[in-house]
Amino acid sequence: MKMDLSLYSSDDWLEHSVHGSFYYDGIKFNALVIPSSIEAMKTFDVRDDDIWINTYAKSGTHWTSEIVHLILNHGNPETIDRTTTQGNIEMIYFQKDSYDEGKTRHLPFYKIIEKAPSPRIIQSHLPVKYLPPGIDEKKAKVIYVARNPKDVITSLDRFVGNNEMGDYIRWQGALKEFMAGTRNYGSWFDHVKTSWDLRHQENRLFIKYEDMKKDPKGAVESIAGFLERPLSEDTVQKIVKNSSFKGMKKSFDKIEEAGKEELVKAMGKYPYMSKGVVASWKKRFTVSENEEFDRVYQEKMADTDLRFDFE
Ligand code: A3P
Repeated sequence: MKMDLSLYSSDDWLEHSVHGSFYYDGIKFNALVIPSSIEAMKTFDVRDDDIWINTYAKSGTHWTSEIVHLILNHGNPETIDRTTTQGNIEMIYFQKDSYDEGKTRHLPFYKIIEKAPSPRIIQSHLPVKYLPPGIDEKKAKVIYVARNPKDVITSLDRFVGNNEMGDYIRWQGALKEFMAGTRNYGSWFDHVKTSWDLRHQENRLFIKYEDMKKDPKGAVESIAGFLERPLSEDTVQKIVKNSSFKGMKKSFDKIEEAGKEELVKAMGKYPYMSKGVVASWKKRFTVSENEEFDRVYQEKMADTDLRFDFE
């Protein structure tokens, strides 16, 4: 569906520079977000049929999102309405023009989501405490995807290493910040542990990237079950195929051909698809970085029974 800009008043558009970063509540964010967008989450109007995909960045957000879209579209990527996920990795980022150097007027993307048709599929990297309280009041469904942190930081480095979205912080600095919990969106450790503790709530599903890789069919079935969308065996197979790494690239090729994927302009083809495997961290970490990471990991994960596969 094409965006209807006449729906937005001049007050919705903001003069804003998307460069740099800021702190909100002691947590660092890049300037693709603004404090008022985070504030707006306190009163954001959640619908009971919303489907939220909540992750720490680079944990499989878009993969999961594609699976959910496919479940709602009987496995058919052609009929997906990408209004609430198009070109955006985060509901509180700015709409596409924010990646265009020449433009200074931006529309916070959550304003588009506010007007989007139901059921909305909404992606956010916000830590749980900043998500709208309406999620639990309305019992909207939340799928939390977690991924082993060594692959998360490796993937993040490939994605934003040495560019503005990553504050030009190169590998060693990024790894240090990640271990200290001071990267954008705060501590990965707190992010995953908080959602793990909420996993038994009936409106929440906690899944892991590594389990999705090991058993894609099981992942599709578990997500469909959680969303109360029973699927035929044929449709499950179709979804597994179309949400595979290869299948998604095919769909995104078509989106690009149709000129719909705006982020492609700024970040190259398939910005959210790089290797798509478990353990690419092994090619990135040195032996001593790995030892240090393991030490920090043991310390920070000592108070949880949440565990990850690292290979
Ligand atoms: P890598 O950089 O390790 O390849 P997010 O969507 O949260 O930004 O996560 C991006 C990561 O998910 C990237 O990891 C990307 O390649 C991977 N990914 C995207 N689509 C996938 C798919 N269909 N199957 C497996 N991994 C996928």
